[in-house]
This record gives sequence, structure tokens and C-alpha cells, in this order.
Amino acid sequence: MNEGHGILFANGESWKELRRFALSTLRDFGMGKRIAEQKILEECHHLTQMFEDHKGKPFDTARPLNHATSNIISSIVYGSRFEYNDPRFKEMVRRANQSICIVGSAQIQLYNMFPRLVSWIKNRQLLLQNVEMSIRDVKALVKNLKETLNPSVCRGLVDCFLIRKKKEEDSGVKDTHYNEKNLIFTVTNLFAAGTDTTATTLRWGLLLMAKYPHVQDQVQEELSRVIGSRQAGVDDRKNLPYTDAVIHEIQRLASILPMAIPHKTSRDVTFQGYFIKEGTTVLPLLTSVLYDEIMLNPGSIPTIRDQASEDTSNFEAPYVANLMDLIFDQVFVDPAPL
Ligand code: HEM
Repeated sequence: MNEGHGILFANGESWKELRRFALSTLRDFGMGKRIAEQKILEECHHLTQMFEDHKGKPFDTARPLNHATSNIISSIVYGSRFEYNDPRFKEMVRRANQSICIVGSAQIQLYNMFPRLVSWIKNRQLLLQNVEMSIRDVKALVKNLKETLNPSVCRGLVDCFLIRKKKEEDSGVKDTHYNEKNLIFTVTNLFAAGTDTTATTLRWGLLLMAKYPHVQDQVQEELSRVIGSRQAGVDDRKNLPYTDAVIHEIQRLASILPMAIPHKTSRDVTFQGYFIKEGTTVLPLLTSVLYDEIMLNPGSIPTIRDQASEDTSNFEAPYVANLMDLIFDQVFVDPAPL
């Protein structure tokens, strides 16, 4: 789909270089730091405003959450956000969302197993069309950024890429990884990897809070007691052990990416008694870890509980142990269907 370009589904030296570039640039733009926090808080403000506009009436949260998370990536990648009613933005998010659903469909899973036999399937054609239209949109946005580029100011990841590209071209680097196709696919990959994952996790959070109002009440109680009415920030997290544990458990229960992306063994390995030859494609099953029987059995959780009762530096130990009991009992061990 990416013809080996970009980060997701890429390989070898090109993957290594672009992954390194993306990670360090995302860090420079404050991923996990205060700069990104500002962007997130700004977007939070737009999102809560949008929620309030519904005046307590029911509405579908999928689109607004997708728009908000997509905008955070946009401001890091392009250097600016979009208005929620911008038709091009709406279409880009809708298409990305649809593509993610298609990738998880049975038809595409079948295609991945037998690509030569079922290349004609409808979902694959739709996916290819979506990729083509996304490339067209990204090209147009990159064109605007190119026209207004100032080599001494990086407004976002795209600017950093363009500046690096020019630098390598000027110094005569042949076969540079900083080419047009890698730029386009790195951008589309970051949106695909960062938007739906975060938005879906947030929706699971809303669903679980609605299903377990007593957990929601305790989260609210902790937030009100520790933070009061001001805006929560990353620094508050260490003082919010209950809320933090609930977030982790939401992620575990949601298991939004049951399978990791395909990897290839770089040498022969023996894993848990199984021999895996060099060059074998491996698909790690993340759900098997998140839904591990040992983790689910409250009597036999050696890691989280022992840590919680031994490490008293950050938490009040008995409180955290109780908290784990509560969450395990109420959220995970409860067999009631959602
Ligand atoms: C709740 C949010 C997220 C979850 C659960 C999640 C989960 C994952 C998982 C399971 C993988 C596959 C790892 C592997 O197979 O090696 C992955 C890869 C990736 N994610 Fe995320 N992710 C999230 C958010 C994000 C965000 C916000 C971004 C970017 C802004 C992002 C960018 C990427 C990229 C670029 C890769 C490919 C890395 C590589 O090729 O090594 N993700 N993510």
C-alpha cells in the first residue's frame, strides 16, 4: 500500500531513518512535553465547547473525538489546526477512519493471507482509492507549506522534513531517504497511527465511564479533590493514582490494536521453546498480553500488586492495592456484556 515508503509497513534503512526522524521531530515539537500539552489543552477547549453545544442531548461522539485528535497531530505535523467544519478536513478524517475500518475487515485479512488470489476484492479497491485521495490532499497541504517555507523556522514536522531534504540535496547526497514519497507517506502514516488510536481509546473511556458510574464518580472525586476547577495538566498525573490506574485499565480492556504491525526476525530466535527462522514474518498478538489469564485472576497478579504495595515513594500503598481490587473486580472480572 505504501510501496515501502514512510514508517508503517516500511522496512530496512529507509524505515530506520524515517522512524528516527519522526521520533526526534515529534519530541522536538513537544510530544510528551509542555509544547504538545499546550496544543492538547487548546484542542480540549474546542472539543468541550463542541460537547456543550449539544446542551446535554445525546449525540455521536465519534466524529468530534476524531476531529480533535486529528487536529493535535495536524498542529504538530503541519504547524496549524483545522476548523471542525472545514470540508476538506472533515473528508480527510472520514476517509482515514473508513480506511482503518477496512484494514480490520475480514476481506482485507483474507487478502493479506492470499494476496494473489483475492486482489480484486471491493474493500481493497476502496482502500486504494482512499490512499490515492489522501496523497492528493497531503500533496496540496505540503505545496502550501513549501511556498511559505522559511528555512530558519520549523512550523511543524513537514517543514523540518523539507529543510532536511534541501540540505541533503545541496550537499549532493545521492538516494536520500528525504524524498517526496517518504514525506507524503510519513505524514499519512502519522495521521493513520495517531488519530484513530487516540480517538478510539477516548471513546472506550466514555463508554466505560457510562457503564461503571461508580468508577466515574471516584475519578471525578479525585479530580475535584486534587485539581479543583482548574484545567488538569500532565504534572497532575502523579497526584492522581486512581485516575491514572483507570486510564491504564481502559487501555488494557479496550485492546484497540489486538495485533501489532508485522515484524520480521533479523536472526534465528528461539522463543518459549519455539524456533523461529531468520526472516520470518511475526505478528505479535498484543491482546494475549492484555487479556492474560494470570493478569485477570486477582489472586495471582505478581507484578502490579506487588509493586503497588512495595513502592511507597509515589503512592499510598494500601490505597493503590484497594484500587486495583476495585478496578479488577468492577471493570474486568465483571462478565456483564458491554
Ligand atoms: C492510544 C494511542 C496509541 C496506541 C494504542 C498505539 C499503538 C501502537 C502499536 C500497537 C503499534 C505497533 C508497534 C509495533 O508493532 O512495533 C504502533 C506503532 C506506531 N505508532 Fe502508535 N499508538 C498510539 C498513538 C500513536 C500516536 C499519537 C502516534 C503519532 C503521533 C503514533 C505513531 C505510531 C507510529 C509512527 C508507529 C509505527 C512505528 C514503527 O514502525 O516502528 N501512535 N502504535
